[in-house]
Amino acid sequence: MPAASETSLRFVPAAAFFQFERLASLTGILQTARSSMSGGTMLRLGTIKEVARFQEYLRTLELEIPCDADILLGAESPLLQPVAFCGGAIGNRIAINPMEGWDGTSDGRPSEHTIRRWRRFGQSGAKLIWGGEAVAVCHDGRANPHQLAIAEHTREGLAQLRAALIEEHKKVAGSDQGLWIGLQLTHSGRYCRPNEHGRPEPRVLYRHPILDRRLKLPADYPLVTDGEIRRIIEDFHRAAQLAAELGFDFVDVKHCHGYLGHEFLSAHTREGDYGGSFENRTRFLREIVQGIRSVAPKLQIGVRLSAFDTIAFHPDPARSVNGKLGPGIPEPHENLIPYRWGFGVDTRRPTAVDLTEAVEFLALLEKLQIRLVNISAGSPYYNPHIQRPAFYPPSDGYQPPEDPLIGVARQMHSVRELKQRFPNLLMVGTAYSYLQDFLPHVAQAVVREGWVDFVGLGRMTLAYPEILWDATHKKTLEHKRVCRTFSDCTTAPRNGLPSGCYPLDAYYKGSQMAVKLAAIKKR
Ligand SMILES: Cc1cc2nc3c(=O)[nH]c(=O)nc-3n(C[C@H](O)[C@H](O)[C@H](O)COP(=O)(O)O)c2cc1C
Ligand code: SF4
Repeated sequence: MPAASETSLRFVPAAAFFQFERLASLTGILQTARSSMSGGTMLRLGTIKEVARFQEYLRTLELEIPCDADILLGAESPLLQPVAFCGGAIGNRIAINPMEGWDGTSDGRPSEHTIRRWRRFGQSGAKLIWGGEAVAVCHDGRANPHQLAIAEHTREGLAQLRAALIEEHKKVAGSDQGLWIGLQLTHSGRYCRPNEHGRPEPRVLYRHPILDRRLKLPADYPLVTDGEIRRIIEDFHRAAQLAAELGFDFVDVKHCHGYLGHEFLSAHTREGDYGGSFENRTRFLREIVQGIRSVAPKLQIGVRLSAFDTIAFHPDPARSVNGKLGPGIPEPHENLIPYRWGFGVDTRRPTAVDLTEAVEFLALLEKLQIRLVNISAGSPYYNPHIQRPAFYPPSDGYQPPEDPLIGVARQMHSVRELKQRFPNLLMVGTAYSYLQDFLPHVAQAVVREGWVDFVGLGRMTLAYPEILWDATHKKTLEHKRVCRTFSDCTTAPRNGLPSGCYPLDAYYKGSQMAVKLAAIKKR
């Protein structure tokens, strides 16, 4: 069985995306990382105080991550340059990636916690708010019993979120000029849990030899029918129309992280109109887009995509000691080659990435005249180290199988390759939070060098939403607020609690939620 750290980028031969030297260097990185992991030398980034030392550490890992030594301020900052879009402009290069809170009401309306989070999105100074958070297009499509939904009865609450965000944004940025706010529309598919935390209600498109087993689905578990798919598509149309009426500038038709849109892309084995060929697997997207264009012609459309993936991982039982999770290892898959249950995965070696179909997908987006693209990867459920690199695993995760900086680099290099191939698409990059105090240095460099158009902030938004605003306006950071990837914001919802930055955000200190989380972590 291949070792976890063999996870690597793969060439896309037709497009010659990766230069040999770069592939070689990435392979080198992976080998170095493997030995450094086994030697226990993975550095905790919080212990590095100077940018020169961080750059040196990147060299030790043989990782190519651009990193500027000096942060430029104000008008000189690459991060504060606008980007032309739709006859106007998106005011700067800071994006807030969608961050759900598991804190809505049981019928999908925002609570005071949700409103606070959206205020903080506004305080970040970011001019591109990508989705706010996942909002289900129908009750049954919710990923948890506290996920927001978009429907007549939630109209007022969603309007309140948008208004709160704009109000805070104006206080920081002076005006809402160039501010673009989207709503992420989702159906949670395989990860539906709409009614009770302890009761998953998966809606699956095809039999998955690994994920079905992990979800304990019997062999005769029903698949979503083509008729049901058409009704879900109509839900997306209705949701988009409502979002437009509420003043949102765009909707994200979510295609990432193992949820329904993403599962369509890997539905190679499904029969009928929505599975098999690339055309069939993207029919869901095309029909949603077509309908949105007819009901809300002025509304812009974006897509958040897990551009690559790997097979599922689990903690190595042989190295799980005294209740401490072992490092992640891939699920056994020797008898599953060629691997036909993934998107953006090398079918011969499903621990490795293949961007070939992501390229085809982005070409389709261009054809559909969709310019807003947010590149993510993998899934928080089955390969979190790919999706959100972290030093500390969530309660249902595993110890990092590689230096998390490799996960950061993997996402950065992929978006760079895709951006080079599609210069007209406006791309948001993901997975920068692990960079911690050096996030501003890297963010400035990747935007300056044209690797990506926008730097998207995920977990850092919960801990320190203003990080890039502070860096580009004051040149100093509040280091105590920097996300250290403790993963409590994932552990909490996995155990039925609202998400949030329990360790660093004073809002949670001493709260009932924090007390409950502490008890759960002690178990
Ligand atoms: C608590 C939490 C909630 C999230 N909610 C969403 C979501 O609603 N929609 C989505 O597309 N991604 C969601 N993500 C993924 C993030 O947007 C982002 O892709 C991921 O955290 C990696 O970026 P980072 O390194 O900046 O955290 C969530 C992540 C976390 C930790
Ligand atoms: S709980 Fe806070 S510090 Fe930990 S990963 Fe989440 S945002 Fe970062």
